[in-house]
Amino acid sequence: MILVTGGLGYIGSHACVSLSNAGQEVAILDNLSNSKASVLQRLRGICPNSVRFEKGDIRDKATLSRLFGTYQISAVMHFAGLKAVGESTKSPISYYDNNIGGTLCLLEAMTTAGVKTLVFSSSATVYGDSCNVPIPEESLRSATNPYGRSKLFIEDILADLHSSDDQWRIARLRYFNPVGAHESARIGEDPVGIPANLMPYIAQVAVGHRERLNVFGGDYPTRDGTGVRDYVHVMDLAEGHVAALRALQRQGGMLTVNLGTGSGTSVLEIIDAFSRVSHRDIPYQIVERRPGDVAQCYAAVAHAERVLEWKAKRNLADMCADHWRWQVENPNGYPQS
Ligand code: NAD
Ligand code: WQD
Repeated sequence: MILVTGGLGYIGSHACVSLSNAGQEVAILDNLSNSKASVLQRLRGICPNSVRFEKGDIRDKATLSRLFGTYQISAVMHFAGLKAVGESTKSPISYYDNNIGGTLCLLEAMTTAGVKTLVFSSSATVYGDSCNVPIPEESLRSATNPYGRSKLFIEDILADLHSSDDQWRIARLRYFNPVGAHESARIGEDPVGIPANLMPYIAQVAVGHRERLNVFGGDYPTRDGTGVRDYVHVMDLAEGHVAALRALQRQGGMLTVNLGTGSGTSVLEIIDAFSRVSHRDIPYQIVERRPGDVAQCYAAVAHAERVLEWKAKRNLADMCADHWRWQVENPNGYPQS
């Protein structure tokens, strides 16, 4: 059985489906701080294998020890954490406590239980304001906010752990921009309040919940002046996790891998692609740049292809179509309970 922390969240829930499709049983630990309990029924409806759930916090040692004592856990996928960049600058302590403190508790419990295989959700945010695209894994890392710094610290903690004991098998997966939803539209991204990210914002404009999109900056040195990112379908990302687990079981060691498509898409290109699949107008206006944004950021993917034997398969139209289906079928996100 695989323990999935944060498994009711956006990426973790999709990873549970991929794990289940690969024949695994999963046990989810989630404190519901950024997800709803109703995700669980939805997940059980599309997962072919058993999905267990424990409501609890990764910082709670008693809960962790009970979980490792109850289930035969062979590996952990660790998604639980706080992820809002802006909020992290206002509440750095809660970000360090949740992300770093939580990871330390988890690592301690794993050590005690003798479970030494871990797949960790890192982020392209560790490349800071690097503009050498496509970005290879060996690029210099830096942090521009507490959220990013929490990922940098955790990456380093995991490297130290692996150096101290080479029985540890660790994958540090650096996600670029996850978008889309499971093709069933039963699970997807359900942001609380005003979406901070581009794709959910566009989806809410298309469905009529918001009047127009503010495009942050039209004067970047990119092909149309708007920011360029590496959008990757969340199911491709989820399958990348299963591939990482297989690679760890195959060869052990510590893997540090970008998960992206390797190609960049501008904000205007996303608007156009979303408008085509939804047959809706997406009104927008170009406004000031958002502080902290870089012009372009996309992944070098050769390492993922070689080490994980994984490659993103879904294209931009698939990402928009699946995100749109999820938005239309769940205009208010998940039900409360
Ligand atoms: P999410 O907020 O949808 O999911 C995180 C889940 O973890 C939520 O269900 C939340 O309730 C739970 N959680 C948070 N703190 C917890 C704690 N202390 N104990 C137990 N559960 C806890 O976020 P997501 O988009 O699915 O991201 C998952 C991971 O991937 C995060 O670590 C995030 O930093 C990382 N990541 C996300 C993105 C992105 O754009 N979504 C990009 C790069 C990396
Ligand atoms: C994408 C593009 C914006 C909203 C963030 C985090 C990163 C990672 C993924 C966790 C940019 C533009 C956006 C809007 C816009 N998360 N935009 N109008 O900033 O690449 O990455 O999510 O690890 O750490 O920083 O993603 O979706 O916010 O922005 O014009 O209303 O869309 O300027 O060019 P970003 P995003």
